[in-house]
Amino acid sequence: MYTIIFMGPPGSGKGTQAKIICELYHIPQISTGEILRNAMSNQTDLGKKAKEYVESGKLVPDDIVIGIVKERIKEKDCEKGFLLDGFPRTVKQAEELDKILNELKKRIDIVINLDVPEEELIQRLLKRAKLEGRSDDTEPVIRNRMKTYFDQTYPLIEFYNQKNLLKNINGIGTIEEISERIKEAIKNIDK
Ligand code: AP5
Ligand code: MG
Repeated sequence: MYTIIFMGPPGSGKGTQAKIICELYHIPQISTGEILRNAMSNQTDLGKKAKEYVESGKLVPDDIVIGIVKERIKEKDCEKGFLLDGFPRTVKQAEELDKILNELKKRIDIVINLDVPEEELIQRLLKRAKLEGRSDDTEPVIRNRMKTYFDQTYPLIEFYNQKNLLKNINGIGTIEEISERIKEAIKNIDK
């Protein structure tokens, strides 16, 4: 099966598309953002540590998220592949992921980068703020999340491009149209 990474700025549709693709290929969705939000709502030690970072739009320290992912992908349901949604987000996380996968004798099959212009991202997140009230969907925090993305995560596009793993996907259109583009890209992976 497939080992897939979903990258893209806040609001680009990583979570929405990850759910569809994971159901289709029967692989688990590993969303570091969701793991952190669950920990925050359950007020676990992890949640208490993560809260100030998540709620200000900063990245949670690398060693914390790397530890989470390392444990998660060793679980049995990941044996036949998995999809990482929102990880890696720094070059350090990407390098550590390579090491972890090497140890497990696995490799990344494709990195899907969802491409959406910034004005559309902000509109989507402000709309979601009204519907769902996620604690990091306020306008100042959304702006910080964008800045964090461009400063720390954007360089990963080149990192994965150099490894010939990157596939840019136009993230504008209906949810179904975008899923079709992603499925097509996955179909064309050279196995
Ligand atoms: P995370 O949860 O990953 O948030 P994010 O990257 O800011 O992205 P979102 O989840 O907001 O957007 P998305 O791309 O998933 O889009 P979605 O499908 O929801 O991270 C949150 C925080 O956790 C980080 O800021 C950081 O603090 C921490 N964190 C997480 N991972 C970390 C890591 N690896 N290292 C360090 N810290 C980490 O869609 C957005 C909205 O648009 C939805 O309302 C959706 O319905 C709508 N929508 C989707 N598709 C379309 C479409 N085609 N047209 C119109 N609307 C659409
Ligand atoms: Mg998400």
